[in-house]
Amino acid sequence: MAALRLGDTAPDFTASTSEGTLNFYDYLGDGWGILFSHPADFTPVCTTELGTAAKFKGEFDKRNVKMMALSVDGAESHKEWIKDINETQNTVVNFPIIADEDKKVSDLYDMIHPNANDTLTVRSVFIIGPDKKVKLILTYPASTGRNFYELLRVVDSLQLTSNHKVATPANWKNGEKVVVSPAIPTEEAKQIFSGGVEEVKPYLRLTPDPTA
Ligand code: BEZ
Repeated sequence: MAALRLGDTAPDFTASTSEGTLNFYDYLGDGWGILFSHPADFTPVCTTELGTAAKFKGEFDKRNVKMMALSVDGAESHKEWIKDINETQNTVVNFPIIADEDKKVSDLYDMIHPNANDTLTVRSVFIIGPDKKVKLILTYPASTGRNFYELLRVVDSLQLTSNHKVATPANWKNGEKVVVSPAIPTEEAKQIFSGGVEEVKPYLRLTPDPTA
């Protein structure tokens, strides 16, 4: 199947996980989702990533985002590995890890990049909206652990920009100024944004975070 692109419908699946058999859409309900793959169980970078993800779960919960991880090892292996993650990362893994032994989900989401490794998944991240459309795709190599602050930052941007006619500038963080959507004329923007509109250039207009 062709690789997924932004705006595509995230494929649904039913899979064995560390928390039993789960259907992805049922698990997500009407909220947001983040699906991320790991090369293999009992590997050092993945161990730190899953521990970090568990510590971030409270922040994702606040934003109505459900996490689901994946590796191509089996559910029993995942359960043993989770014990190590909990012990070494001083946390409790509190979200399911797909046991994708038959690589069904990896194939659906194009998580195996054969020229990098022909059997293990790369570090893919998909953020999925309540409409089940793919909102973000990131792909990291096996040797680079992901930055979960960045994933939260993107969720904040996606949730803000899906509700307001704004976009978020480089290195933006929650609460900072945002840019007015290019589709909105400045005069109209001044009516919409009660915090004021600063016109740096006709195409670059700043306004305070409308939710702050
Ligand atoms: C890791 O998670 O530590 C890892 C996995 C595959 C290759 C390199 C590192």
